[in-house]
Amino acid sequence: MAVHVMDHPLIQHKVSVLRDVKTTSKQFRELVSEIAMLMCYEATRDLPLTDKDVQTPLATAHTKVIAGKKLAFVPILRAGLGMVDGVLTLVPNARVGHIGLYRDPDTLQPVEYYCKLPADIEHREVIVVDPMLATGGSAIDAISQIKKRGPKDIKFMCLIAAPEGVEALTKAHPDVEIYIAALDDCLNDHGYIVPGLGDAGDRIFGTK
Ligand code: PRP
Ligand code: URA
Repeated sequence: MAVHVMDHPLIQHKVSVLRDVKTTSKQFRELVSEIAMLMCYEATRDLPLTDKDVQTPLATAHTKVIAGKKLAFVPILRAGLGMVDGVLTLVPNARVGHIGLYRDPDTLQPVEYYCKLPADIEHREVIVVDPMLATGGSAIDAISQIKKRGPKDIKFMCLIAAPEGVEALTKAHPDVEIYIAALDDCLNDHGYIVPGLGDAGDRIFGTK
């Protein structure tokens, strides 16, 4: 399945500022939200449309509107929360589910602590959002949880990815399209993306 690395100049510029160690939490939060909004524009490019006649003040316009039950966004807690405002700016009527996962610092394995998904998620296209795709463990686990509820079309959107994570996610869920703002070099010995931006959750919420 396709891996899309964003080449839009606005996204590249904003990711550069995001990476900077001098960027404050306030700026970081704003940038995460803005980049998520710009990426959402690309990730929704293939949403199915249906015909609709609309009466304008002058005549009937033969138009298109988005078909079906539309979208659900699922942020992976915590850091994924930083992307929710941005994507909802573009698709305000989308439903939002939440999956709580953290990486065990020793094993780097995801530990699940929360899962609440929209009741009708099986009828929606789902976009999972998390700023970081490192080993891929968290994204793989979150998407496996979502698949149990039956949605047919799932995408994954992240700001920074390591090649190791892209490979693992593609192998585990070959049907899931991946949208990435920047594809980095590698992981370090602690499972952090290099050059990356550090710990996304800590930078969004100012916890370190
Ligand atoms: C970060 C990030 C991803 C995960 C990526 O979350 O937001 O969810 O790490 O790493 P992986 O691809 O190796 O699984 P973290 O576990 O730090 O939790 P937090 O968002 O609560 O800080
Ligand atoms: N999680 C983060 O927040 N940053 C990384 O580089 C890897 C995992």
